[in-house]
Amino acid sequence: MKATVIIAHPYPKSFNHAIYHTVCAELASLQVELFNHDLYEENFNPTLTVEELGSDISTDKLVNRYALELQESDYLFFIHPNWWGQPPAILKGYIDRVIRPPHAYDFPPGDTGGGLPIGKLKGKYGIVFNTSNTEEERENNYFHDPLDSIWKQCIFGFCGIEKYYRKMFRIIADSTPEQRKQWLREVSDVVQDVVNGSQKILQSFAEHTTNPGL
Ligand SMILES: Cc1cc2nc3c(=O)[nH]c(=O)nc-3n(C[C@H](O)[C@H](O)[C@H](O)COP(=O)(O)O)c2cc1C
Repeated sequence: MKATVIIAHPYPKSFNHAIYHTVCAELASLQVELFNHDLYEENFNPTLTVEELGSDISTDKLVNRYALELQESDYLFFIHPNWWGQPPAILKGYIDRVIRPPHAYDFPPGDTGGGLPIGKLKGKYGIVFNTSNTEEERENNYFHDPLDSIWKQCIFGFCGIEKYYRKMFRIIADSTPEQRKQWLREVSDVVQDVVNGSQKILQSFAEHTTNPGL
């Protein structure tokens, strides 16, 4: 089995990095082959080019490599903080440039992009770990947890992924070292459950968000 693991956080000693290292170590211990990338460390350029906008072809080696790895992976892990209800800009750029046709989704012949997409990442598992400084009640009822629909419907669902897990760790600013250790144990448990176990934690959402005929 193979996994793509993407972290988007500029500070290598952040709690997000602790999550990232825990995910990678746990996957490695489960004999899962890793394609792990720290987007800041790899100096990923998040800006979609004119050429990429007009075609499915990129001349950026990193973009092409990440896209092929996504296709090869069974598990897709994304780790990032909540920044304005969105992923950090560098990860937004990864989404724009890497999660693209023809690797991640496409449209049926004759469809210029206005119809239902064909998900090309069907059968894979999408797992997201987020951090934030907002109480759950306020996040859900006032902000409406935008990261959940961004990942679940806008990205994974669009690409045909039907098995999804997301956890928001909060409130990082007030957390104790003991709390953070406990959270990292939870991260390990999730990875084990996804790879090994009953996968009972995963949400299934076969909502036919993609083109059902293909
Ligand atoms: C640019 C920026 C925007 C942020 N926006 C939000 C937000 O919308 N909601 C929130 O709860 N926290 C927000 N935060 C706080 C971060 O989510 C928080 O610092 C981070 O999750 C802590 O994890 P870390 O210790 O790994 O950095 C923001 C922080 C930054 C730097």
